[in-house]
Amino acid sequence: MQYLETAVEIAREAGALLATYFERRVAFETKGEFDLVTEADRASEKLAVERLRSYFPSHSIVAEEGGGVESASEYRWYVDPLDGTTNFAHSFPAFNVTLGLERAGEMIAGVVFDPIRQEMFTAERGGGAYLNNRRIRVSGVRRLSDSLASTGFPSRKRHHNINIHFYYQLAMASHGVRRTGSAAIDLAYVACGRLDFFWEFGLKPWDVAAGTLLVREAGGRVSDMLGERHTVAGSEHLLADNGALHEEVLASFAEIFRGKLRVPLPEIAREDS
Ligand code: IPD
Ligand code: CA
Ligand code: CA
Repeated sequence: MQYLETAVEIAREAGALLATYFERRVAFETKGEFDLVTEADRASEKLAVERLRSYFPSHSIVAEEGGGVESASEYRWYVDPLDGTTNFAHSFPAFNVTLGLERAGEMIAGVVFDPIRQEMFTAERGGGAYLNNRRIRVSGVRRLSDSLASTGFPSRKRHHNINIHFYYQLAMASHGVRRTGSAAIDLAYVACGRLDFFWEFGLKPWDVAAGTLLVREAGGRVSDMLGERHTVAGSEHLLADNGALHEEVLASFAEIFRGKLRVPLPEIAREDS
């Protein structure tokens, strides 16, 4: 399909640009207290938006750094020109560029490209999910106690985020919970079975547009953390998993939402106690 091929071409070009900035080590600025942005975010977004506008002039584009355009078209691209900016700014090599295409409210194509590992994750609605053109599927892990998970914490308003409770309880119940610093990579890794599930509060549409399609097309499940339908533009939280773990993870979340913490946080021994 022309949309996916074009998205792949743009992601490869934007990814190569990110890689050159990464080698040079770029300075960062803050958007909020801890929310970073670099010259690389802006350059990658400019490239991706220019390319999309030249190929698909009628389509809407929603891009993180504000370079998008709104139109009456039923097609809407979501662009995260650099997902994993905090990693990037600290020379930690885990980041990607991701583009997702929605038609009349449904995701129909998506790419996540990691230029460091040269890994191109792609999916089309009804056509399966692929890593470098090889079909990928979610893992076959059936029990939470055998699983490896990932989550993320937002840069903005982190003092309002309750995810540390979920992090601790799920880390105690599984083989561990990773924090890659890149939501699109987390989703791509669920799709190819490197992770068994991923959850996060407060993600933006461009973080999850392509990745949720990858997980579904790889045979996994996506919902919000209460088990309700997840929508790219409307949900406050997300759970993506291999399908087999869905109910068990949701049951754990339900307990934590109710304030039931199976494993209490360890006390810090104080010198005066
Ligand atoms: C962030 C990353 C991170 C997630 C944050 C996102 P950005 O995106 O995906 O893993 O925890 O919620 O904002 O700002 O690097 O594009
Ligand atoms: Ca992002
Ligand atoms: Ca970003």
